[in-house]
Amino acid sequence: MNAGIIGIGRFVPEKIVTNLDLEKRMDTSDEWIRTRTGIEERRIAEDNMDTSELGFQAALKAMENANVQPEEIDMVLVATVTPDQQFPSVACMLQERLGLRKVAAMDLSAACAGFMYGMVTAKQFIETGAYKNVLIVGVEKLSKVTDWEDRNTAVLFGDGAGAVVMGPVSEGKGVLSFELGSDGSGGKYLYQDTHIRMNGREVYKFAVRQMGESSINVLEKAGLGKEDVDFLIPHQANIRIMEAARQRLELPIEKMSKTVHKYGNTSAASIPISIVEEVEAGKIKDGDLIVMVGFGGGLTWGAIAMRW
Ligand code: ACO
Repeated sequence: MNAGIIGIGRFVPEKIVTNLDLEKRMDTSDEWIRTRTGIEERRIAEDNMDTSELGFQAALKAMENANVQPEEIDMVLVATVTPDQQFPSVACMLQERLGLRKVAAMDLSAACAGFMYGMVTAKQFIETGAYKNVLIVGVEKLSKVTDWEDRNTAVLFGDGAGAVVMGPVSEGKGVLSFELGSDGSGGKYLYQDTHIRMNGREVYKFAVRQMGESSINVLEKAGLGKEDVDFLIPHQANIRIMEAARQRLELPIEKMSKTVHKYGNTSAASIPISIVEEVEAGKIKDGDLIVMVGFGGGLTWGAIAMRW
């Protein structure tokens, strides 16, 4: 039995903060942010909209899109590093708010690679036959841990949510291969004390190397080559990092998802948000081979090759 995506949904807050808005708050410029990161604007949630609310909205859409009823969901996984509180988990909050049965629910902490970790976890339960439908939500309210005095990080992040329902799909479709990894020795380069702290150069070097390598690795594991790839969905952190991955796969520019200009880095939410936007734009079609790849604090990484 293969596990694949059977429904998708996204939600972003309404409030747009542009680079020009940030120019007024700190010593930065639209030009610097655009050329170094590709980011033009990001969404920021109001104070009364926490992570669980963002995730709830995306999850509702994914369940509707999958055409599954609340009682058909067997497990909830929420990838986030910005939960409403340490516990109860956002996953438990969603179990109640979505009216699910008293199913397994847990948050998963793997920073920007969290959604890849969530999908791979769901795949195990589905392919063993233990569970049928698993809801996976990637959601962050990074604005609440952003140091708005630190221009090195404040310009990079945004809030948002993406969700998928995974379930059994026909032979040859769904997740074909995956790679997950971690390197705790790099934890010092990207972490949260009260706020996000980052050594941008070190994270950049790691990301460029790892995104390319993991993309190639999942293709090899699936017995496929670069030429088989129809679409690349890299974690949307920085256009230059994404470009490096695209070039490693020798893909034309139109075969890579780009949403970073609109939303900035939304951590665990960036890949599922991109999936929804590309499917809605008609860029991901039935039967396409998709490579998804993410990296983040931990350090962590994860990649999936999937037949849509
Ligand atoms: N506006 C203006 N100048 C700035 C800004 C800003 N917002 N931020 C930093 N600078 C300055 C610095 O002070 C520094 O100046 P100095 O040289 O006088 O000290 C200079 O710009 C930094 O230049 P570079 O280091 O050459 O900048 P770089 O090209 O490396 O870009 C960036 C920096 C965008 C942070 C890049 O390193 C990067 O994207 N790194 C990866 C970050 C990332 O993806 N993090 C998220 C990981 S995912 C997760 O888990 C959340």
